[in-house]
Amino acid sequence: MPTAQECIAARGLEPHVEGGYFRRTFQADHRPPTTTPAGDRFTLTSIHYLLTHWSPVGHWHLNRSDILHFHHHGDPITYHLLHPDGRYETAVLGQDAGRGEVLTLAVPGGVWKASHLTAGDHGLISEAVAPGFDFADMTLGRPDELVALFPDHEDLVRRYCRPEGPDSSAG
Ligand code: GUN
Repeated sequence: MPTAQECIAARGLEPHVEGGYFRRTFQADHRPPTTTPAGDRFTLTSIHYLLTHWSPVGHWHLNRSDILHFHHHGDPITYHLLHPDGRYETAVLGQDAGRGEVLTLAVPGGVWKASHLTAGDHGLISEAVAPGFDFADMTLGRPDELVALFPDHEDLVRRYCRPEGPDSSAG
């Protein structure tokens, strides 16, 4: 199996603002866009997304679009989901069905999501986003705002919020 660094080089991945690394692999520019309340979007986009032992967390964020996650290879990734009604859900994306790991995870638009490498060196997934991804549809979690929304999950919220500070140049 390639190392995390080899995977980044081989797949041409770049740092993601949520944590981890990514590259867009598809956008449906061969057909007319979908109209959404926030503007026109590709009907579908997709990325590779990688978490590594030195960048193991996809910090809390919310997307308006539905996102399907597919585990390709490497170590499992744990997901934490907070639904608009306050419900908490967790799932592990990975190859080992015997341990309850799933190959595919659907996260509906409007659900807050954080993820982390469960253990090990790296995990590579794809995300398919419909309507297609746009930064205007993504909200990064701010600790105090998220705690106010989900007071029963303060520890979890604070553990996986992106550290606040000057904006990085990550995409
Ligand atoms: N998250 C899911 N899809 C995308 C994408 O296309 N670009 C970025 N930056 N983040 C994403």
